[in-house]
Amino acid sequence: MVILTVLSYICHKIERNMGNNILKGKKGIIFGALDEKSIAWKVALKAHEEGAEFVLTNTALALRMGTINQLAEACNAKIIPSDVTVVEELETLFNESVQALGGKLDFVLHSVGMSPNVRKKRPYDDLNYDFFLKTLDISGVSLHKVLQTAMKLDAINEWGSVVALTYIASQRVFPDYSDMAQAKAVLESIVRSFGYQYGMAKKVRVNSISQSPTNTTAGSGVGGFDAFYQFAEKMSPLGNASAEECADYCVSLFSDYTRKVTMQNLFHDGGYSFTGISSEIMESFKG
Ligand SMILES: NC(=O)c1ccc[n+]([C@@H]2O[C@H](COP(=O)([O-])OP(=O)(O)OC[C@H]3O[C@@H](n4cnc5c(N)ncnc54)[C@H](O)[C@@H]3O)[C@@H](O)[C@H]2O)c1
Repeated sequence: MVILTVLSYICHKIERNMGNNILKGKKGIIFGALDEKSIAWKVALKAHEEGAEFVLTNTALALRMGTINQLAEACNAKIIPSDVTVVEELETLFNESVQALGGKLDFVLHSVGMSPNVRKKRPYDDLNYDFFLKTLDISGVSLHKVLQTAMKLDAINEWGSVVALTYIASQRVFPDYSDMAQAKAVLESIVRSFGYQYGMAKKVRVNSISQSPTNTTAGSGVGGFDAFYQFAEKMSPLGNASAEECADYCVSLFSDYTRKVTMQNLFHDGGYSFTGISSEIMESFKG
């Protein structure tokens, strides 16, 4: 009898890829999976492993350029294109997702960022202001658009969870992060302000995760990425957090184990944000 119980537990784990089913029955939308390096890609795999059902979304261009079809197949997920800056497209996305998943949502991942100024290597004291507004819209204001659209359509269940990704350059200067720093400051502020509104109205939580430098298309596009990746690695008592570890954290925030966490900017950086200087960095300055 005991052997049978153990065997059935093992089979169940294998079937679910060794997950713990902490998202069983939960439905969501995941923004921002471009290729297998993307943080959103890892979150999708992990959420699937934990029993969630979800829709994947990205811009029509990214859907053509990236490899999202492979991910959709692995996660048995539908892909619905949307540009996160276009409210009409978000309305279609939320309506069609609720329909496709057969009910309201429990989680949304906003894993979106882009700066035309960074992409075109404009120095911070010679920004193109049309580009700057685009950076703010895509990487910051878009979170408001996602939240407002979801709230108006009443698309998220009570105790649902919205998680956005951010970077510490919103609060400290990292020169090459350029106008993305302002976009992330906007994003983190929206987390607090909308988190209050959505919490009061519908008991929906809103948080951001401030992630370590991670080698992805967006991450490695920032000038000097390798240097500040190495620097952060040496400054963090636990080392940099990987994309997979970020996915674990996201999944915990989508789960029912974090129901009273809201309006927070949560550092997921191996301790980097609270380290003044590490012994390793000290050593590198000794003669
Ligand atoms: N990589 C890092 O070092 C790092 C560190 C901290 C935070 N982040 C944040 O993590 C998130 C995910 O980035 P990533 O590192 O996985 O890189 P990524 O390039 O894989 O993901 C960025 C995604 O944003 C999407 N996107 C861009 N413009 C869009 C638009 N108008 N509408 C919809 N989607 C759009 C892209 O297609 C892409 O899928 C971003 O918010 C990024 O700022 C990254």
